[in-house]
Amino acid sequence: MNILEALALRGEAESYERQENAWLLEHITKIDFFDLIMKKEQQLTAEQELAYIEGLARIAAGEPLAYVTGSQPFWTLDLKVTPDTLVPRPDTEVLVETVLKLELPEDTRLVDLGTGTGAIALSLASERPQWAVTATDIYEPTLEVAKYNAEKHDLNHVQFVLGSWLKPLGRQFFDVIVSNPPYIDADDEHMPDLATEPERALVADKQGLADIEMIILQAKKHLAVNGWVVLEHGYDQGEAVRQLFTQAGYKQVRTLKDYGGNDRVTLGQWPH
Ligand SMILES: C[S@@+](CC[C@H](N)C(=O)[O-])C[C@H]1O[C@@H](n2cnc3c(N)ncnc32)[C@H](O)[C@@H]1O
Repeated sequence: MNILEALALRGEAESYERQENAWLLEHITKIDFFDLIMKKEQQLTAEQELAYIEGLARIAAGEPLAYVTGSQPFWTLDLKVTPDTLVPRPDTEVLVETVLKLELPEDTRLVDLGTGTGAIALSLASERPQWAVTATDIYEPTLEVAKYNAEKHDLNHVQFVLGSWLKPLGRQFFDVIVSNPPYIDADDEHMPDLATEPERALVADKQGLADIEMIILQAKKHLAVNGWVVLEHGYDQGEAVRQLFTQAGYKQVRTLKDYGGNDRVTLGQWPH
């Protein structure tokens, strides 16, 4: 089978499936994505062909491409991904952009709660090397992946802490607390599509708002004066999250939209 035939094995021309085929083929053949078409007549080796067919079968069975290739681009970083981590989503980059636009001190102290692959913490640490960045997760194998990604990108100054939300952070104070916590209701119609990703990364009680509420409340004891909490949430949770922030006494509460025009990130400032 040559590259052109391999690319055409799944999906319509110009479709997202064809793009995924090309990413998988790039991973297996180590031929750059943009060079695949120029090399379209090149024959795959028997080993490459087998790996490709097996990869397509895993994707057809519902696994994200990132689990098959073991990595996912996010921001400017190529991140290791395993079944212990959520696959970082492009919309989460809105949270990174939001933090970068805030007026913050030179030596900002920031913590990313529930860091997964380290996507948010490492992107911000790479953009602002002078910041003191901490990343937490409740699950040790997940935190190990984030540590691996920090080493891979020479972001060795990032601190990693195991534990639930702000509990393991003792009496530390931060200028910014960010999180993309679990926010999907267990009965949400999209859950069957997400079955291969860890449930602890996705599902929260109280219609998906339980962890968001906990972070908003716990954060008050860990914020510096005028510190910010910046949270990702579901497309239909903007109003509820703004209410949680406001009821808890935060100011400057506002919601930003993702690249698809949906409510995605809400932030609030602690005025005390
Ligand atoms: C939606 S994923 C986000 C992962 C990553 N920040 C990202 O944006 O790609 C939520 C993460 O929170 C972690 N988590 C779940 N409950 C937690 C808790 N109580 N304390 C800390 N982390 C938690 C999960 O292990 C998972 O890595």
